Amino acid sequence: MSQNQAAELFTCAAPRGFDAARLRRDFPALDQQINGKPLVYLDSAASAQKPLQMLEAMERFYRSDYANIHRGVHELSGRATAQYEAARASVRRFINAADEHEIVFTRNATEAVNLVAASWGRRNLKAGDEVLVTALEHHANIVPWQMLEAELGIKLVAVPISDAGEVTIEAVRACLTLHTKLVSVAHVSNALGTILPVAEIIALAHGRNIPVLIDGCQAVCHMPVDVRGLGADFYVFSGHKLYGPTGIGVLYGRAEVLADMPPYQGGGDMIETVSFKGTVFKEPPFRFEAGTPAIAEAIGLAAAIDYVSAIGMSRIAAHEQDLLAYATERLKGIDGLRLVGTAKEKASAISFVIEGAHPGDIGTLLDKYGVAVRTGHHCAQPVMERLGLPGGTVRASFGLYNTHEDIDRFVAALKEVREMLR
Ligand code: ALA
Repeated sequence: MSQNQAAELFTCAAPRGFDAARLRRDFPALDQQINGKPLVYLDSAASAQKPLQMLEAMERFYRSDYANIHRGVHELSGRATAQYEAARASVRRFINAADEHEIVFTRNATEAVNLVAASWGRRNLKAGDEVLVTALEHHANIVPWQMLEAELGIKLVAVPISDAGEVTIEAVRACLTLHTKLVSVAHVSNALGTILPVAEIIALAHGRNIPVLIDGCQAVCHMPVDVRGLGADFYVFSGHKLYGPTGIGVLYGRAEVLADMPPYQGGGDMIETVSFKGTVFKEPPFRFEAGTPAIAEAIGLAAAIDYVSAIGMSRIAAHEQDLLAYATERLKGIDGLRLVGTAKEKASAISFVIEGAHPGDIGTLLDKYGVAVRTGHHCAQPVMERLGLPGGTVRASFGLYNTHEDIDRFVAALKEVREMLR
């Protein structure tokens, strides 16, 4: 999504006819009491709840069509292969990749970044080369590069952020050097919700022939994503944050880039032929999917994609922008509460601290009211360090199923928790 599109969404009111209260009935886990109170689930940034449509697709597959893929000549193997490859085609359409062979199934976004680091990184980087990330990244987009620092002697450079948690294009420009060989940045910060100017970052890097990886974990579930429109070389995300199952993630790689990458792991299903004289690898994406993959999970992810696509990602984005604006206003009324991350463009997550109260205590007490939030460093310790918050923050994050009523219950519970911790 371009900055202009993001700005348009940011000014959107709740989309007409978007009935989150009805949609939430598709999510059985939301219909329960926690500690005697109705569950208010505000932890979708960590993992989203699952719609019946996705659960049923996986169950249907296991009940009637299950077999291993790509290997069998029998009916069930044919059905399983067709559904697994159809899932790849669904992902292609969803992110507007040019070709389904640009879609590699991985275990999650973390594995996708590790794949790029191990395969593309080992082939293309050498001592002294720089990989540019931002100070906002979560650990999945830091640690794999640090491992290459130790192995190859490359240097990991982090673009500084403002106190509001923003990354400016000027700050990125200032960090690019003749040694920068890859830019690898989040589309949306998981800890603060900041939307990064990724289209501009890609244009800037490409102007210097530097490839770009976008970590879209917190973007694909909250806004339309068009990898071709963005021009990303790599785009990674996890299925479980997109209302799909755990154990499945996606690496999108431009065909020319993937074609030049060696395998990440070796084993069955990624080979054309094997002999003790040597092995011939398959073309991408199969070359990167060694062993029996997460077949049912890929099918579940496709069902989740069908589900959100039927609602419409733009409508989901507008609904969540409305929730974000509503929650931001309501939270500002709480004595001693300070929002952390006040970027102009944000998506679906609010971080905050309350004077004199530890985030962990706030989260534990909110749970007594049935309110699920995440607390701590949100797998993004460097950003907490940068903002002087070693104890981290409380983070409330939204999904398509959240309502104003959820936020009202959350704010009411938070006011009581605030009083208890005074
Ligand atoms: N990265 C996930 C989160 O933001 C786990 O909570």
